[in-house]
Amino acid sequence: MIITAFPETFLTELTDRNDIVEVVGSYVRLSKRSGSNLFGLCPFHSEKTPSFSVSPDKQIYHCFGCGKGGGVINFIMEIENLTFPEAVEFLARRVNMPVPEDTNDKDSKRRARMLALNKAAAQFFYEQLKAPDAHEAHAYIKKRRIGRATATNFGIGYAPDSWDRLREAMKQKGYTDFEMFDAGLVRRGKNGGFYDAFRHRLMFPVIDVRGNVIGFSGRILGDGEPKYLNSPETLVFNKSRNLFALNLAKKSKSGYIILSEGNIDVVSLHQAGFDSAVASLGTSLTPEQARLLSRYTGEVIIAYDNDAAGIKAAQRAIGILEKLDLKVKVLALKGAKDPDEFIQLKGAEAFRNLLEASEDQLDYRLRTVTDKYVLSEPEQKVAFLKEATDLVAQLPGAVERQVYALRVAELAGVKGDAVADEVERRRKRKLSAARRTQEREQSRPERQHQPGDKKLRYEDPASAVAEEGLIRLLYLDPALADSASLPPPEDFSSAALGRIYAALLERARHGGEMNTAALSGVLSGEEMDLLVSLLQKPEQLQRGEIAMADYINRIKERKELAAGSGDLRALADKLRKKKGYEG
Ligand code: UTP
Ligand code: MN
Repeated sequence: MIITAFPETFLTELTDRNDIVEVVGSYVRLSKRSGSNLFGLCPFHSEKTPSFSVSPDKQIYHCFGCGKGGGVINFIMEIENLTFPEAVEFLARRVNMPVPEDTNDKDSKRRARMLALNKAAAQFFYEQLKAPDAHEAHAYIKKRRIGRATATNFGIGYAPDSWDRLREAMKQKGYTDFEMFDAGLVRRGKNGGFYDAFRHRLMFPVIDVRGNVIGFSGRILGDGEPKYLNSPETLVFNKSRNLFALNLAKKSKSGYIILSEGNIDVVSLHQAGFDSAVASLGTSLTPEQARLLSRYTGEVIIAYDNDAAGIKAAQRAIGILEKLDLKVKVLALKGAKDPDEFIQLKGAEAFRNLLEASEDQLDYRLRTVTDKYVLSEPEQKVAFLKEATDLVAQLPGAVERQVYALRVAELAGVKGDAVADEVERRRKRKLSAARRTQEREQSRPERQHQPGDKKLRYEDPASAVAEEGLIRLLYLDPALADSASLPPPEDFSSAALGRIYAALLERARHGGEMNTAALSGVLSGEEMDLLVSLLQKPEQLQRGEIAMADYINRIKERKELAAGSGDLRALADKLRKKKGYEG
């Protein structure tokens, strides 16, 4: 088994030269408290008190709040939104180290081929606009009032009304059917033959922030279904991690990014001079997309469609963006269904005014609540007050709460003080409810032995504690892997811990050093978080072998119990308590 595509010696030197304190320190202000660890505000979730720690000696970071953790490569993957090889490249560049040509890495070769193919296909679609049978496409472009410069800027093209023109052209360039299939450019027919996936459509290449053509979005010329055809998820195309036109918007000087729904909206906005417009690729905004946005801007202005679905999507997006401490505003597109129609009907100047008047997200939410009720009806007024004070009570700042309480009072036509008092009462109630839940969680013993990531929930916390201990020992002293009595990974009650354990064993038995860099290549992000968090707990290495024997016994016992009946299990639990194992 190849642990990672990069040579061991290269990765070791890379992580040696990229000290984690320095690297993290350029994103997070770190300060010393006590002990050797440094602390700061976690860049991966929003918080007011620092729970993000960096250990200079272990060269790892860990957030006690959100559970994220890993080595310097994981940190770069996470914060720059890069894949493992990209993060390695990033760090190599940082310290001027050449990256070894990786002949083993099939994926990176496949990736490079696919990107080259996509680029060639984009070029082909673009050229097709010059073909004699492109008149319908031209008519459509004209109808949507997309100018020549804009079309070129976006690399808009045309997929001809043919089953094989793209396929033939790409064959000429040396690409195989399987490569085209892999990239989602051709499909496979019932008889096993291949045919062009995009036919008679206006083609929008999707380009990532580094300028790679990663996929396509093809719009039908006129009415019909499906309106858009998108590339499937491929090795290089992941819809939830990319945004349409971010490659252009990231260069904007405007200081904010306009988030809209449709490709055409984006094209139209750019054409009207709003060069920071992007769209999420037919999905509702994902946390990954939000994180990507936060790399390029501190403010997002939402310009979604002016319908029920758009309003709902905007509210979801606000929640996601706020978590990243982005300033969020929402546009009120009065008299048009979307930004494109707004600009076509009222012009760029009107849109500019709209931007300037765009509401803060709280105003927006408050307005949505207000619109729900008829405030002249006493009962509805009460319901409104309830919902609105609840909203205001969520604001962290006292002054802000005061201001908005007065606004709510004004809207409902009641006394300001009464609303302000009610807001504070609600806030206190919320805070103490939150505290109670927290206390309850902490007093439940098995809850303490659950990983931060809910997906990885331990079925058998008693066994998981021992499994964690075994992993910790192996990480700290790989020589322990030579012990004959080690259980196989299948004996672990937690599949995630089993996978981590298997990876460590594999490494230890091949004489590899333990470091997060080498493991990043084999463990998923969640597994890495879990490993780093369990490494935070203390372990006595001096008595390593004794501790190990104890952990192994426990894992065995729990496995036998799990195989037995429920009654037996309860009985054995009791016995174990007597023997004083648990504690
Ligand atoms: P819209 O239907 O609002 O499209 O879908 P639009 O881009 O604004 O186009 P016009 O103005 O009606 O011509 C918004 C986005 O949702 C995705 C596309 O990314 C589109 O831009 N979508 C829509 C699909 O992926 N598939 C579809 O069938 C429809
Ligand atoms: Mn639209």
